[in-house]
Formats: sequence, structure tokens, C-alpha cells
Amino acid sequence: MKAKFWVFEGMDGAGKSTQAGLLFEKLSAEGRNPLHVREPGTTMLGESLRKMLLDADREDWHQRSEALLFFAARNELLRQQIGPALQAGHDVICDRFTPSTFAYQAKDSSDFDFIAGIHQLVVADIAQPDGVIIFDCKPETSYQRVCDGSKQDGFESRGIEFQRKVRENYHQFYQRFPDITLVIDCEERNIDDIHDQVAQWVDDKRND
Ligand code: TYD
Repeated sequence: MKAKFWVFEGMDGAGKSTQAGLLFEKLSAEGRNPLHVREPGTTMLGESLRKMLLDADREDWHQRSEALLFFAARNELLRQQIGPALQAGHDVICDRFTPSTFAYQAKDSSDFDFIAGIHQLVVADIAQPDGVIIFDCKPETSYQRVCDGSKQDGFESRGIEFQRKVRENYHQFYQRFPDITLVIDCEERNIDDIHDQVAQWVDDKRND
């Protein structure tokens, strides 16, 4: 059976990392030997860029400079880990990928096109996601959960208006790529319920 590439996305505090962990456990129990990675990070370059990009005290950078740095981290992760794992037959679960760059670095539709163009150059011939799961909640909920958590990173501390824009961009992503995307409403639902929905969709997609 061909290995699949699953991407977990969503607003800060929506619970995507917990859900990525649960899918990892399910696929491991099924003997698929999955790889679980996160962006930005996992590789040495990725972790260095993560420190720079998420630093709450750094100066503001142009959104396209940020996008290019996220793609540098992505390129390294793809070539060092994601591509080889898929080739060896392992499913891959990735916490965030290009959809995050659309969501967080696009101010307008020309930024969307810019990001799509870089994706085509850097990512497309190595691995394309088979499924993108977007964990959706109200910006107010996201903002509250982030404020209740530990120290905020530079993106989390941009405030509620920024979370609104992120959510709107995720919806645009869904409209552009509905065939590979599932949007899950995470307001007032328990973890097991949401996991069941993810697991069902992943099983259905695998048999597409
Ligand atoms: P993450 O570690 O997933 O944070 P959390 O678990 O708190 O949601 O992601 C780090 C931050 O990086 C997150 O706020 C979103 C941001 N980000 C971008 O802005 N663009 C990108 O391309 C990626 C991958 C992440």
C-alpha cells in the first residue's frame, strides 16, 4: 500500500498537535511505522529558523521574507526526512506545512500566488500532501487558549485580528483545494470525538 502524507493544520490553540499525536498512535498500532515531524523544526536548520521566526522580540519582517525562511526549513525537512520516509513506505504526519504559510504569511491574493509558486518549485516534485486536516475554532477561542497557555510566541502574540486573518486564509485554502482538505470544527467537542472523525477520514482517503 502506497505511503501517505498527512498534514495537520489550524489556528494556534485549536488542538492540532494533540490530534497529530493520536493519529500517530493509531497508525503505529496498525503497524505502519509512521514518521511524525513538525514545522518549522525537526532538522538542525529547521530548529534554528524556528527560534528566529518565533522569537516574540524580533523586529517585523516582510511576510515574503518570513515565507522564504519557512520554505528553507521545509526544504531541509523534505529532503532529509519526509521524502525518504515516504519512499521507504512509511506514512508521514507533519504538524504544519505549506498551508500554514498560506494562512500566516498571505496578506492578499498576490501573496497566495507567491507562496503557491515557491511550493511548486521547492515541494511539488518531492512530496505532495494526500490529506490536509484543518482544526478550526473561533478566533476568540484561539486567542483565549493561547493567552491561558505558557509564554506566547511571536505569531501568537499578534492578537485577535491576526487570528481572524489566519482563519480566513485557511478557508481560502479549503476553497482552493477542497479535494484534499478536511475542516474540523473544534468548538465544544471532545478530543475522542474529533479523533474519531480524523481517523475515519484518513481511512476513507487511504482507499480513494
Ligand atoms: P506551532 O509549533 O505549530 O505552534 P503551536 O503548536 O503553538 O500552534 O507553530 C509555530 C508557529 O509558526 C505558529 O504560530 C504558526 C507559525 N507558522 C507560520 O507562520 N508559517 C509557517 O509556514 C509555519 C509552518 C508556521
